Amino acid sequence: MIKKIYFDTLPSTNTYAKEKGKDGAPEGTVIIAGKQTGGRGRRGRNFHSPENGLYFSVILRPCCKAEDALFITTCAAVAVVEGIKKATGKDTGIKWVNDIFYNGKKICGILTEADADLNGNLNFAVLGIGINIAKPEGGFADDIKDIAGALFEESDSDLNEKILDSVLESFFFYYENIDKKEFIPKYKEYSVILGKEIEVHSPQGVRRVEAIDIDDECHLVVLENGIRKELSSGEISVRF
Ligand code: BTN
Repeated sequence: MIKKIYFDTLPSTNTYAKEKGKDGAPEGTVIIAGKQTGGRGRRGRNFHSPENGLYFSVILRPCCKAEDALFITTCAAVAVVEGIKKATGKDTGIKWVNDIFYNGKKICGILTEADADLNGNLNFAVLGIGINIAKPEGGFADDIKDIAGALFEESDSDLNEKILDSVLESFFFYYENIDKKEFIPKYKEYSVILGKEIEVHSPQGVRRVEAIDIDDECHLVVLENGIRKELSSGEISVRF
């Protein structure tokens, strides 16, 4: 059952949801904020979260190992694409692993955080999603203005709610049978990188490869100098 809890402002819906999760909040508790003052992204980055966005975190209590939390994120990426399509008619796409793009710009980020015991069993997970529904007043901050985009020019709170409900509906549809991985074919269908030349960024430098597939473990399969390789994580970039 979904229970939504709203805030005008929070430092981070993920941080708040983790506290609620530790206090025993049930699966399906959704924390929503109109803006975040300390929104968190992957790799310890900030996630710029001004007004006009949709920022929410879902508490999940799946019966799987912490490492399977990767599938929560990929399942959520599919749900965001489908939820936005259903609510607005707009076509967005997934840039592996978990960024959602619209018209060549990132409009959504997803951060799943797991709370696990010493054996690696999940106590709970927090799925955090931030969607730029409309452009912030005054535009995006300088450091992200070239890569960040929004779905609309103008904000509309009814639309935020519609998108939230559609994304949640789509997410729980796939999540109920997450072990069947029914979202993987959809993930591939919505990918904006398959068949394209991409750059893989690692501490060793930047490599050019061709993205050819996403396997059942959500690894990105690439061809590098004619050799097939599987990437399990990492930063990639693509020219649209
Ligand atoms: C990323 O792109 O690096 C992931 C960004 C995830 C942002 C969302 S917004 C809601 C939730 N609360 C947070 O602090 N982060 C996630």
